Amino acid sequence: MTHELETFFQPKIIAVVGASKDTRKIGHEALKNILISDYECEIFPINPKDKEILGLKCYKKVTDVPEKIDLVLISVPAVIVAQILRDCAQKKVKNVIIISSGFSEVGNHDLEAELVSIIKKSNMRVLGPNVMGYKNASIGLDASFAYGNPRKGNVALISQSGALGIGMIYLANNEFMGVSKIIGVGNKIDIDDDDLIDYFAQDTETKVVGLYIEAVKDGRAFMNSIKNCNKPVLVVKAGRSKAGARATASHTGSMAGSDKIYTAAIKQAGGIRCRDLVELFDMAKALAGQPPAQGNNIGIVTNGGGIGIMLTDACEEAGLNVPKLSPKTYKKIDKIIPDLVRPNNPVDLSADAGFFRYELATSALLEDPNIDGVIVASVHGGYARPEEFIGAILKMIRERKLHKEYKKPIIATWVGGREYEDLVLDLKAAGVPIYPSAWRTARSMLALYLEGKRIKKEKQKKKGNQYYFMDK
Ligand code: COA
Repeated sequence: MTHELETFFQPKIIAVVGASKDTRKIGHEALKNILISDYECEIFPINPKDKEILGLKCYKKVTDVPEKIDLVLISVPAVIVAQILRDCAQKKVKNVIIISSGFSEVGNHDLEAELVSIIKKSNMRVLGPNVMGYKNASIGLDASFAYGNPRKGNVALISQSGALGIGMIYLANNEFMGVSKIIGVGNKIDIDDDDLIDYFAQDTETKVVGLYIEAVKDGRAFMNSIKNCNKPVLVVKAGRSKAGARATASHTGSMAGSDKIYTAAIKQAGGIRCRDLVELFDMAKALAGQPPAQGNNIGIVTNGGGIGIMLTDACEEAGLNVPKLSPKTYKKIDKIIPDLVRPNNPVDLSADAGFFRYELATSALLEDPNIDGVIVASVHGGYARPEEFIGAILKMIRERKLHKEYKKPIIATWVGGREYEDLVLDLKAAGVPIYPSAWRTARSMLALYLEGKRIKKEKQKKKGNQYYFMDK
């Protein structure tokens, strides 16, 4: 069955109210973005003053447009938005995006209540107000006024803050993280996080869902949408502190609520609460490119004792295990490392470790049934060979696809300077999750373990296990 928001994300006929010839105006940018999208649709600018904008025939009102409209973007001052919304209802428009600010976030509750009452009497689905719109990278449609486009990929991003949402596009591009859709939800008077999580749950282009939220309007619906989502849901919830909660109220007009309750609710629903956007992106990259870990036993391969110990501490602190090697794995690794070191977990391959030591030791760990995931680390200490570390990982993941063969995740860590960073970019571009910190690496592995656990519980739930929510 087609999801109700399908025409919202894949509209065939779009109108922009407040479209303008003035290149400084948001209504101009929104129209231009749709026009230059790599997506075929009909576009109607709406402005009572003009006959044509950007080469397109302009109409005075949405009700004058001869076609049925799938999506209307509104970019006019707040005081006239209600009238435009009434026109949309009269025209039986399916979906609306209200870009305009000036509602509850600045204390104009009556203006916002008027919009809610119009929506209730109609069949429209409305995003906003106070939003950037969305970018649907899966099909190449840009229904926002924001500059810049994400790379196409499988992470869906929802942001209550428009500016942050735009920032997330740049962050994603910087990290070579592909995005399916990115959407701002603003004051959430109709389309809410739960609607979008439901949509992304069935969206074949989306593998991971990430949210930045300041407040949730309907806690039960939010939790249910995460519970019912068959994909990992990562949540950054801001407004943790007293002052942060105050800032939330003046940003999107929402109440931040009890932070502890949010933490417990997200966890109980099966989502993962992330400390910040960096952590959300770290985890999203791991979840988008690697299989979930079937257990929490982690093998660590390194060329430096220090980073090995830090990774071990971070793993244990995050709730993962770094078990001793089985005799069989010990023997396999013992054969390939210098006599000066003995295999252990973390496996120290010694500072001069090259391509083969990394590949053979990682393979030995993947083959071990007592290991559920592997972290491969490198420190650029003296005579270390970063090119070979990078080459070994590229071979294992891109060429040999060992993560798929063994159904175990492989992620990486590095410590080094600028000369090393360029090489790390090659890994990021190939979709390999690699992090410059032991803690970030361990947390990303934890996300892969939690995802494995979530999938198992989902299977149990399908079998009718009534204790589904008891131990998470
Ligand atoms: N129907 C269609 N167009 C109309 C109209 C109507 N009933 N009434 C006016 N317009 C036209 C205006 O004439 C203008 O076009 P013009 O440039 O050809 O004169 C255009 O709509 C825009 O109206 P204008 O009064 O110039 O507003 P603006 O573009 O300066 O500002 C907003 C409008 C929505 C951008 C502004 O009010 C706002 O909310 N800005 C913040 C947006 C934001 O940050 N959102 C959140 C992002 S995360």
